[in-house]
Amino acid sequence: LSLGQSVRLVMEGALTARDRVGVQDFVLLENYNSEAAFIENLRRRFRENLIYTYIGSVLVSMNPYKELEIYSKQQMDRYRGVSFYEISPHIYALSDNTYRAMRTERKDQCILISGESGAGKTEASKKILLYYAVTCPTNDRMAALGDRLLQSNPVLEAFGNAKTLRNDNSSRFGKYMDVQFDFRGAPVGGHILNYLLEKSRVVHQNHGERNFHIFYQLLDGGEDDQLNTLNLERNPQNYRYLVKGNCPRVSSISDKNNWKVVMKALPVIGFTEEEVQKLLNIIASVLHLGNTQFGEGEEGETYITTEISNLARLLGVDGSALREALTHKKLTAKGEEMITPLNFEQAEAARDALAKAVYGRTFTWLVEKINQSLALKVHSKGSSVIGLLDIYGFEVLQHNSFEQFCINYCNEKLQQLFIELTLRSEQEEYETEGIAWETVQYFDNKIICDLIEEKHKGIISILDEECLRPGETCDVSFLEKLEDTVGGHPHFVTHKLANGKTRRVMSREEFRLLHYAGEVNYNVNGFLDKNNDLLNRNLKEVMCQSDNQILSHCFRREEVIDQKRPEMAATQFKNSLMKLTEILRSKEPSYVRCIKPNDAKQPGRFDEVLVRHQVKYLGLMENLRVRRAGFAYRRRFEAFLQRYKPLCPETWPNWHGRLADGVLTLVKHLGYKDEEYKLGRSKIFIRFPKTLFNTEDVLEAKKPEIALTLQTSWRGYRERAKYQRIRRAGQTTSSCWRSHTLFIKGFIYRHGEYGPENDYFLDHVRYSFLKNLRKNLPKSVLDKSWPTPPPSLVEASEHLQKLHMRNMVTKYCRIKMVYLEIFKDQKDSYPQSVGRLFLDSRLGTQREQISLKVVQTLGNDKVQYGVSVIKYDKRGFKPRPRQLLLTNTFAVLVDKTKIKQRIDYTALRDIALSSLSDGMCVLHITREDNKQKGDLLLHCSHSIEMVTKLAMMANKTNNVNINPGSIQFTVARGKEGIIDFVRGAELKVTKGRRGHLLVVSQRLL
Ligand SMILES: Nc1ncnc2c1ncn2[C@@H]1O[C@H](COP(=O)(O)OP(=O)(O)O)[C@@H](O)[C@H]1O
Ligand SMILES: [Mg+2]
Repeated sequence: LSLGQSVRLVMEGALTARDRVGVQDFVLLENYNSEAAFIENLRRRFRENLIYTYIGSVLVSMNPYKELEIYSKQQMDRYRGVSFYEISPHIYALSDNTYRAMRTERKDQCILISGESGAGKTEASKKILLYYAVTCPTNDRMAALGDRLLQSNPVLEAFGNAKTLRNDNSSRFGKYMDVQFDFRGAPVGGHILNYLLEKSRVVHQNHGERNFHIFYQLLDGGEDDQLNTLNLERNPQNYRYLVKGNCPRVSSISDKNNWKVVMKALPVIGFTEEEVQKLLNIIASVLHLGNTQFGEGEEGETYITTEISNLARLLGVDGSALREALTHKKLTAKGEEMITPLNFEQAEAARDALAKAVYGRTFTWLVEKINQSLALKVHSKGSSVIGLLDIYGFEVLQHNSFEQFCINYCNEKLQQLFIELTLRSEQEEYETEGIAWETVQYFDNKIICDLIEEKHKGIISILDEECLRPGETCDVSFLEKLEDTVGGHPHFVTHKLANGKTRRVMSREEFRLLHYAGEVNYNVNGFLDKNNDLLNRNLKEVMCQSDNQILSHCFRREEVIDQKRPEMAATQFKNSLMKLTEILRSKEPSYVRCIKPNDAKQPGRFDEVLVRHQVKYLGLMENLRVRRAGFAYRRRFEAFLQRYKPLCPETWPNWHGRLADGVLTLVKHLGYKDEEYKLGRSKIFIRFPKTLFNTEDVLEAKKPEIALTLQTSWRGYRERAKYQRIRRAGQTTSSCWRSHTLFIKGFIYRHGEYGPENDYFLDHVRYSFLKNLRKNLPKSVLDKSWPTPPPSLVEASEHLQKLHMRNMVTKYCRIKMVYLEIFKDQKDSYPQSVGRLFLDSRLGTQREQISLKVVQTLGNDKVQYGVSVIKYDKRGFKPRPRQLLLTNTFAVLVDKTKIKQRIDYTALRDIALSSLSDGMCVLHITREDNKQKGDLLLHCSHSIEMVTKLAMMANKTNNVNINPGSIQFTVARGKEGIIDFVRGAELKVTKGRRGHLLVVSQRLL
């Protein structure tokens, strides 16, 4: 089957199987207002492992909690260049569609991924990146960019992810990533923005959760002397910051392996050895900080009871200054500096604040550092961008605090953007199609965004004010202030303001926001502190004197000198969110909405309550309503006509008039009512899914009949001579009547744009080229031949050629590595061999070619390497010219057309050579194997190359022995022979004294 054909089959299959596997686009749900129908459709698809479903251009993704075989290279190829709706929904389809939109419309794109923790956002973003890394053309100069993009992931995850109850690898920060592409569509640069790292995790974790991965990775994976230098012990239980969750190990995570991955990745993304060491010092210092303990003196003063010299050393600061700063605070009152001691609780809080600041700022530094490595090195003209946003969705926990408030505010903003952009693109489409816009009723959540963010009046402003206000302030006074100022707002309630029913489910310390997606109660405890995010000034002063460059970069002197208060946490977040929405607004958006089927991380379990909750808080029903407001289904005229033309005599087999007229004739014939559809300029809009399904059913019922009439008419066709040539070509592809007509038509339109007229034909041409290419791929790095591609494949062919070359080069480098390992400075002829190219065969000339008979005898065992050798008899040492051929599992010695000896690699014990410049080598064969004829004495003028290849294929790279004076071999039944090696004027192989073989090697300068 050609690609085009299989695509069509898949589409047909999916439409007809809709009862069992649900619809692949929610817009085709008859009852689009029914949440039950929505969830039932999700369930049906999930049961069949169909984890992806569209809502128009939105992709809904269910976490399968198991590996599905749908992410292979073949799958990537399947989705390349295929129209979004023609093939089953997939993250690759969305990736590809976004990429092509960027290329053809020259407009920046963004993909917004949202969903609860553990729903699969990060996995989705990784799949998208991988898709681009594999399928996009590469820019030679930037070949490593894809690599760096992918490598930055494990590093970011080590520092920014942690095991939580909901996800073993939960991202504890929001991430927006730009990938920049040059005018040819090759990725050339990247940039990451990070949001809201959950710093509190550094000092506290809930039961069953862990701190950030990196701490456990270091303790588990670090070398002994590394840990010694950092003064660390392996057991995480020894560190107070790691024991709170009582969960040092997680079965699904290998800290040791991940540590290796991170250590490998750091140099790739541009970290020097020194920077890595500084980074490790910081991680260790946080652990030591956590173990720093305080005591209380007689007078209520606080002092440090633990050793802090290590901590000071790792932080690169003065020990006594640190001791002082951890137990005192510095105030400036009326222009005078005052130092006051901290009480016990304050000292502990100061210590934790320092740990959070050190870790949080280091994380930001890390992101900057990665950005330097990903930065566009040369400005390229005409470049465009695809942005990826992986950010937590609405979070509704048992107790919601400041963090949830920020996250949910973010989601409120993103929803606003979604509505704006979706309506905008819908409206634009209606406009270009010349169809009257029908107002869509939707809930505008601006009122909630304003409630949170409005200057002077919104919740964030009130929070800031309360933090700055002199006098006694606390979380409760903040709550009262809220009641005074926004108490009357329709989306705001507190215990005091609520009616009896609501009051029962709220505590006195909570306020409730009625978000667009549903209500959430927030507990005000800790709001002020978290918003303040205070680090005592004297701690800052100590830190900015650190001789650890990372830390002195993170703690700037200006910050201490500058008396202006830095922005509060919520305001900082609000500002970065404003920037983010600006960035996103300038781009064309696509959406991935992730859902997790259950909380137990188990495959195959569909927890309806949990899913319904997510459908609600993701706003999916609202998505669907907006998308379905006008018409359920729209298709370009060509596509519609192509599919349904057999259903009307006037349009079958071909419509010769205008496309719009053809479609009109067709739908009139089918009896569409006026309110069921509208014709735009290039598309037909169908209002109800039912209309489409009925049409599909008619087509299905009519298929046998159509086939019959077509066969008859085809026979008539066949008589005409002018189609003979094409027919022959057509017959080779398929015997199906349909392909013939398509093929002929495609041939006629072959120079036109790719479309329904010629897609089958062009696909066939492509297919044939690729098939031919597979047979004629160049075999070595030196072979520059390449079949000529058809016009539509020129670009693809170029990429393939590069890719193939790269593969061969990699393979080649691997051989060279092995060669170095074996021979470097081991053999006199090594220096000469260094610059030589390795070839895939040394049997170049006509005379040397492998005989056909031998090839036939070997059958499926393809010859991977061949070379001419001289074989010496073990008795008498008579020289005999032979060919040595290597296959994947054995080697053979060939005398012209006869295979004289077969050496199974399993029977090969080792390979021995001399350390001189000769080409003699001995293959020692294990004695147990009676089938074998015993050891082999060979001389080969390409011995180094031959031995390298043989050793690699036989997996014996550790069994190549290089001997200085002589090599023993077995003649027969325990009798030994010996080869002696000496240096001399020129190469000579002769029978020496005592029946030894004497090899004289040329002395090399
Ligand atoms: N497409 C997928 N295929 C297989 N497993 C998945 C897929 N998506 C998610 N998972 C599983 O779910 C876990 C959580 O996914 P993740 O992307 O980290 O969630 P989120 O970023 O939304 O918190 C992953 O570690 C993985 O085990
Ligand atoms: Mg994540």
